[in-house]
Amino acid sequence: MKTTYYGQSTVEIELSNGKKLLFDPFITHNPLAKDIDINSLKPDYILISHGHGDHIADLFEIQKNSGAKVICIAEIAGWLNSKGVDNVHGMNIGGGFNFDFGRVKMVNAVHSSTMPDGSPGGNPAGFLLSVEGKKIYFAGDTALTYDMKLLADENLNWAYLPIGDNYTMGADDAIKASAFINCKNIIGIHYDSFEVIRIDKDEVREKFIKAGLNLKLPAIGETIDL
Ligand code: NI
Ligand code: MN
Repeated sequence: MKTTYYGQSTVEIELSNGKKLLFDPFITHNPLAKDIDINSLKPDYILISHGHGDHIADLFEIQKNSGAKVICIAEIAGWLNSKGVDNVHGMNIGGGFNFDFGRVKMVNAVHSSTMPDGSPGGNPAGFLLSVEGKKIYFAGDTALTYDMKLLADENLNWAYLPIGDNYTMGADDAIKASAFINCKNIIGIHYDSFEVIRIDKDEVREKFIKAGLNLKLPAIGETIDL
């Protein structure tokens, strides 16, 4: 299993069987990701954490290109249906479903969620994935929250956590979150794309090392093993 980082919170997980899961596509409006051609992305599933533009901007184009099934909260599922996207699987917080690639459970995130046209996006969400014998947590946009402690006994292998501060938790709270979820392998997301979430990567790396954590900050377009 491997993962590729496409900037902001856009990550792809490619399973050993070749199935591809793409999270929160935001590429063409991100100058840092200008070398990524969204036409090259052909996911089987697109998972959406919430309705903000920096998580769904390229959803329609990539879904049209790939025919991917979109996994998201019920309100966003309905909104996508109203926009002509039919291959959608709506869920809600606390619910899990066994897909052909593994299990996805939608978990709490503390944030907000409005669609780009002002429609309500339901609650923001994170995802707990059980795939190919591994457990992976994609936190989405969220504050540090005690609900993360509910994941402590999941034996997580990897967690994608926001570290950019301002709109989500920053590095210090992400380190606390790593303890709450009992996971040492962290991939940082949601940083550097905008002025207010620019981070000093060396300083953040140092903090995670001091906390005994393995932080990965892959370059945009870089693929690492999970
Ligand atoms: Ni957001
Ligand atoms: Mn965001």
